[in-house]
Amino acid sequence: MKYFTTINDIKSAEFLISEALKLKKNPFGFSQLGKNKTLGIIFMNPSLRTRLSTQKAAQNLGMNTVVMNFNQEGWALEYEDGAIMNGNTVEHIKDAAAVMGTYCDIIAIRCFPSLKNKQEDYSEKILLQFMKYCNKPVISLESATLHPLQSLADVMTIEENKPGNKKPKVVLTWAPHIKPLPQAVANSFCEWIKQSDVEFVIAHPEGYELSEDFTHGVSISNNQNEALAKADFVYVKNWSAFNDYGAMPEVKENWLLNENKMSLTNNAFLMHCLPVRRNVEVIDSLLDNNKSLILNQADNRVFAAQAVLKQMLESNYNVGEQINNTKLEIELCNS
Ligand code: CP
Repeated sequence: MKYFTTINDIKSAEFLISEALKLKKNPFGFSQLGKNKTLGIIFMNPSLRTRLSTQKAAQNLGMNTVVMNFNQEGWALEYEDGAIMNGNTVEHIKDAAAVMGTYCDIIAIRCFPSLKNKQEDYSEKILLQFMKYCNKPVISLESATLHPLQSLADVMTIEENKPGNKKPKVVLTWAPHIKPLPQAVANSFCEWIKQSDVEFVIAHPEGYELSEDFTHGVSISNNQNEALAKADFVYVKNWSAFNDYGAMPEVKENWLLNENKMSLTNNAFLMHCLPVRRNVEVIDSLLDNNKSLILNQADNRVFAAQAVLKQMLESNYNVGEQINNTKLEIELCNS
């Protein structure tokens, strides 16, 4: 595996989930695999879980890690090819990425969307430029449109907790928030859960439709109560509008997840990728009770990252090999 940026980069989600579950049982079983290898971890945006779980995963495999917070500590980056850099930008991404590639064996990068320019965000401009210029395997730690490590941890958590006797119903429900958030977690969850043997429903108010590239074939409801009926897992997440890009259309109904709404479910497990705005998205009593899987999801981030790193370390990739056959390849070729 040379890239992990979308589910399309892997051969089998089922295999990767089983690898992650095995690593959870034996985290140090491959502690020599990454000896003398360095993982470079790049953040353009804040993080708690992704930052720590990815470092822990690398360390469990014996890797060294170096972390660069470009947003706070790096030179201001230029992304335009051929730019005359006589303004505020100090270093071109082609130089910064190439330099990091010389120091590291694998690069992991977080780069959020602007939520101002849909075309630019959905072209994954920053991620693709890093992939193009660093010349090393790249892991997305959440890009403008997708958060694949979160989704791998999420489907792993569902696999661990699903009832043995029936196909579970999984509901992804939009929740209120005070500011516009990316669609990445929801997009990515759609990609991954569609490959699981579950009944999947998305609930969101009108105006919060996700891109059909991700929701194609999924049952969607604008009625949260109807969607929640008999659910086994309820995944709560806010996202901003995709069509009126980055906007927060007014919602008249109350979409805060509370006890009354959860009583409609089949005593469902509660999921959230965190960080969560308590009592804005979900009430405390649901987050803190024994049906809440939020800490299990966070814990599983370590083994999701470890499974991906293990695949990369075991792959005999060749530096400079062609980008594999993903949506991102097409974008890269066009960029
Ligand atoms: N869920 C998640 O990605 O958390 P962080 O933003 O804290 O990394």
